[in-house]
This record gives sequence, structure tokens and C-alpha cells, in this order.
Amino acid sequence: MFISEGHLPQVLPPEAYTSQKQLDLELKTVFDSVWQCVGAKNEFPRDGDFKTVQLLEHEIIIWRRGSRFQTFLNVCAHRYCTVTSESCGNAPERLRCQYHGWEFDETGNTRKIPDSPCFKPLKPGVLGLQPFRTETCGQLIFVTLSESTPSLRDFLGDTFDVIAELFHQDLFLMAATVRDVNANWKVLLENSLESYHVEECHPSTLGPLPRPERCEHVLHEAWCSLEVCYQGDRSLPILLDDFAHAWIGEKPKHRWEQINVFPNLIFIRLSMATWVEVMLPVAPGRSQSLGLAFGNAGRRGRLHGAVTRVFLKRYLINMFNQLIEEDRRAIEGVQRGLECQQRPPGGVLSAREERVFHFQEYIVSKTGCDRWDAHSASAELRAA
Ligand code: FES
Ligand SMILES: [Fe+2]
Repeated sequence: MFISEGHLPQVLPPEAYTSQKQLDLELKTVFDSVWQCVGAKNEFPRDGDFKTVQLLEHEIIIWRRGSRFQTFLNVCAHRYCTVTSESCGNAPERLRCQYHGWEFDETGNTRKIPDSPCFKPLKPGVLGLQPFRTETCGQLIFVTLSESTPSLRDFLGDTFDVIAELFHQDLFLMAATVRDVNANWKVLLENSLESYHVEECHPSTLGPLPRPERCEHVLHEAWCSLEVCYQGDRSLPILLDDFAHAWIGEKPKHRWEQINVFPNLIFIRLSMATWVEVMLPVAPGRSQSLGLAFGNAGRRGRLHGAVTRVFLKRYLINMFNQLIEEDRRAIEGVQRGLECQQRPPGGVLSAREERVFHFQEYIVSKTGCDRWDAHSASAELRAA
């Protein structure tokens, strides 16, 4: 069931989704001390594999060395070229700058400077790549841009062990995606925080609204969660789910499990698929979403595993892409509405949307921004 008994007001004013001032404030107060999920161990099968990511206002490079993952600013200490322009690759010994060939070791120190006598008296190891703290939880690799962020375990708190289990080492990576969306990052986030739009936007992919008694919301200071129980349903998707689990030799859970860790991390498990999404602001009306989707092929041997991988990839990736496009239409529509000069006074959230309210309260508490004066509109609705 839901926690709220009735509707709630929209807390953030429309300008909170459109102004540069608000975004600057969020970058300072909301994103200053957080961990971001930037990849999965599965993306780095060989020692020396690396990938580059645009993370907020930083270009970073994540590099596997042995069983460890290091992250550096992807900007050379010589004359600020990005060390590599590749999205991924392999550097077995050293990272080598694409411009003049400076080389850096796993600590980020310079190990080789071509034509080094011309740099006298500069010594190797003096200038290097800026490192960032990197930690893992299950399969997932997290990076923080701040020295003062608590450990990943402390940051994720009660959710750490749950996320480690959701993204356990036996899952296989189905897709790693980067998508650009013409909407404020909070519009993307809020879309993930309510099941109200499901019936209208995803009639064929997700189907009807889950009944309130099947939904369980948990609201915590730094995160919130949704669990929808499908136990007892005898619909075709559930029968297929039973069959698929019998095939891989595991017991189905018949649950949608979702955790949103504030500000911008979403972790979801549905049946044999698990995925994580990270919503990153680019501009007030533009965002980037990094996604990693995993499948569970079970442990019943190679043949079962191979067949399951093919099936899951084919079926689920199509479904994810369709879901993403269905959401995109609505999300970008919200942004266009928010940017209109004239808007109706409305702004009201149902009990089913209470996680949106909770998130908006979190933003106000972090940024100290003004609440929207829509309470009067809400009071009128209540009276009506
Ligand atoms: S900018 Fe990297 S070696 Fe010159
Ligand atoms: Fe959706």
C-alpha cells in the first residue's frame, strides 16, 4: 500500500527544471559528495581494458589493472589534451596520451616523457593524471569526484548489500547504453519514481497499473524503494516467467524490485533482468542517462546458459528500447510544458506518486531552494 492517504503538492516550481541558476546550485549541493555508477566489471574482461565516460563536467577514464579499477581525469598534465578520445580500449601497461605520447602508470604518475631533456629539470613522476576514488558493489563500479564523500558502503547505507545481491557476479552484461534526453535530469528521475504513467505510456510493454495493495513503498532520507508483488497472478507473462525460471533452475520471485538512491541512481530487478540507470545533468533542459542491463542465465551448464543469453538479449533489449522510447516522448513533453511561458496553476501528486514528493523534498533540503507556492492550488483541489 501507499504511505500517504491522499494527494500531495508539487514541491518544486517549474523554474527548478528550467533555470541555469538552479542547476548550478544542484551541482554544488546535490552532486558535490556522491558516488556515481560508471560501469560494470563485465565491461573490462581483460587486464588493461579501459573506458571513458563524461561524468558531470568531467571527462574520466576507468582502467582495469589486475583485479583493481582505477579512475583518472582523462586530461593530460602536459597541455590538457584528453589522454584518449576512444570510448573504450586496452592499455596493458600504461596510459599513453594521444597528443605527444606522455605515459602514465596505474598510480597516474608520469613514467615516460618523450624528448625529456627538453623538459629539464622536470622529473618523471612529478606531473600526473588526477585520480578519483573508485569502489565496487557487486558487479558495479562507482566513482566519486570528491575526496570528502564517505565510503561507498556508507553512502549506499542499508541498500549496499541489497544492490550487491541484485548485481551479483554471475549476471551477464546485456547492454551498456548512453542516451541523451531533452529534459531536465529531475524530470527523468521523477518518471522513474511513479508507476502512475505505466498504463498510459506502456500499455503493451508493462500493462495495467499495479493494484495499490500489491505495491510497497519505503521512504528513507537518502533513498526510496518500490516493490510490486505479482504472486498469485496467472497471466501469460507470469506463466512465461515460471517457464524461464524452470529452464535456468531457479525459483521465480514474481516481483518488481526498485531502489532509487538519491540523487540520481536507479536500480531495478524484474525477473531475470536487472538494470541500473544514472541520470546526469548536462544543461537545464538536457540530460544524459547511463544504463547497464544485465541478464541472469542461471547455473545449469553451458548449453542452458547460451540459449538463455540469446533469448534474453533478443527479447529484453527490444523491450527496454521500446520502454525507453515510450518514456522519452512523455519526458520531453513534460520539459516542453515546463518551459512554456504560460502554465496552468495545477501541480498535484497522487498517493501513488508519493516517491516524487519525497524526492522533491530531498532537493529542497539539499539546495535550500524555494518551495513552489502551489499550496493554494492544492488546497482548492482538496476543498473541491
Ligand atoms: S598533451 Fe598529452 S602529451 Fe602533450
Ligand atoms: Fe516508464
